[in-house]
Amino acid sequence: MSFYLSPSLLSADFGELRRDTEMLNASAADWLHIDIMDGHFVPNITFGPPVTKAIKKHAKKPLDVHLMITQPERYLSAFKEAGADILSVHAEACTHLHRTLSEIRQLGMKAGVVLNPHTPLCQVEYVLEYCDLLLLMSVNPGFGGQKFIENTYRKLEEAAKLKARYNPNLIIEIDGGVNLDNTPKLLASGANALVAGAAVFAAEDVPAQIKTMKALGDKA
Ligand code: DX5
Ligand code: ZN
Repeated sequence: MSFYLSPSLLSADFGELRRDTEMLNASAADWLHIDIMDGHFVPNITFGPPVTKAIKKHAKKPLDVHLMITQPERYLSAFKEAGADILSVHAEACTHLHRTLSEIRQLGMKAGVVLNPHTPLCQVEYVLEYCDLLLLMSVNPGFGGQKFIENTYRKLEEAAKLKARYNPNLIIEIDGGVNLDNTPKLLASGANALVAGAAVFAAEDVPAQIKTMKALGDKA
């Protein structure tokens, strides 16, 4: 089963973002996952639209932008201008989630909704037909290199049922602790997009690791 692999630049060398972006351009990666953290919705702070724009200048693959910020509706146009292709917002951070997802689409981006590990799927049941991607966090957001939370598989199976019911074109993406070991089971449970930070960037040969991970989809 083929899937989108979205290496997370959170684990890249921030002093060498151009080099790492070009390395991903030349790899089998499908998207570039860009983690935006505000020190409020999550404890960590990364970067915002200007650095995203700088990455976009060199990127040859779509930018899969994951907003871990409060009131993300304030920044939708800024991330469009910065070059986001997919823009995902946390359900927990949006008071008017339907409106925010609709605005992302109106701006010409694919709209994604994200759930923290503890947030039930019923929170998004009535917006799945208004978005393109459902991102399930399999760690608590904020940091790379954390341990995968095992009951994600159960949530993923339930999400696949909602996809069949409400939006068969929905992309279901998993983010956090994804590695070569859990990739086959995630794909078998219904994921068709995977984010990988540490598992990709800790490898000695990053493009080879990406190729190996992508090949797991061909076997699934
Ligand atoms: C975590 C971020 C992830 C992170 C994943 O808050 O949303 O995208 O980069 O990193 P790994 O794959 O190392 O868990
Ligand atoms: Zn992320």
